[in-house]
Amino acid sequence: MEIFNTQNSLRTYLETPRAQHQKIALVPTMGALHEGHMSLISEAKKHADIVVCSIFVNPTQFNDPKDLEKYPRPIENDIKLLEAQGCDILFIPSVEEMYPDTEEQWHIDLGRLDQIWEGAQRPGHFQGVTQIVYKLFNLVNPDVACFGQKDFQQVMVIQRMIEIKNLDIQLIICPIIRSKNGLALSSRNARLSEAGKEKALILSHTLQAVKKGFNENVAIPELQHIAEQMITEEGEVELEYFAISETRTLERVETVEADKQYIAHIVAWIEGVRLIDNILLND
Ligand code: PAJ
Repeated sequence: MEIFNTQNSLRTYLETPRAQHQKIALVPTMGALHEGHMSLISEAKKHADIVVCSIFVNPTQFNDPKDLEKYPRPIENDIKLLEAQGCDILFIPSVEEMYPDTEEQWHIDLGRLDQIWEGAQRPGHFQGVTQIVYKLFNLVNPDVACFGQKDFQQVMVIQRMIEIKNLDIQLIICPIIRSKNGLALSSRNARLSEAGKEKALILSHTLQAVKKGFNENVAIPELQHIAEQMITEEGEVELEYFAISETRTLERVETVEADKQYIAHIVAWIEGVRLIDNILLND
């Protein structure tokens, strides 16, 4: 695996495969890699000749400085995992390399996506995400880019940016990878104790129960109630939000219409760690 720290060195390296019309895939990450990220790399390999993974803990998308500071950075292990997965290129720049101009301004009109759920709870988060992903897209100029369904709203935001900026990039959405007992893998899980990890199972259990109810035609307000009750009964789990929304708009719904797709999404705090999960409801 080739490792690059600067935009110039990576850009120059990619000129040759580009000229040879090789397909390039990009998998942007913030490191502390796990099997979820690895599934993105293996999906990327199916669609391209060269897979570029980036590891960059992007400061502009963190609204909580403590979260940024505490973000795990086990780089040696990340490199080993990527090599074992057959990743071709790792791009791992410094903050100064990606943001040489500390005054840089960025804004993209994400409409309601910037105002609901993650947009509302983490002001500026999606502006930061699009700012860095746009830089990475411009640098790598990939044919395809792989993102996880785990951050469903992020996928929608990237899709919207691709449309607004008129980019010729195929977005591939990869399914959520879970531990065998159902916990959605996340770099933040490393900050949970064993007991905390057990508690965190309530998120996926709740989503599974809601999916079952949804497909048995249980009414949405009732499903909402069941979910909130399951979380409350668990104890020491602080629910930030749970909602059932239409997948196209991510707007909360009260009733179900035929031919539409729905998603249940949840954010909860355990041991000071913010956990996010979702499930597509239609069978
Ligand atoms: P990060 O949280 O490192 O996630 C990188 C990619 O891995 C995202 O597309 C995310 O959805 C995916 N991912 C995380 N956990 C997953 C799981 N359990 N199963 C499947 N995919 C999973 O998301 C970011 O970084 C950043 O916002 C980034 C896009 C890199 C911009 O800074």
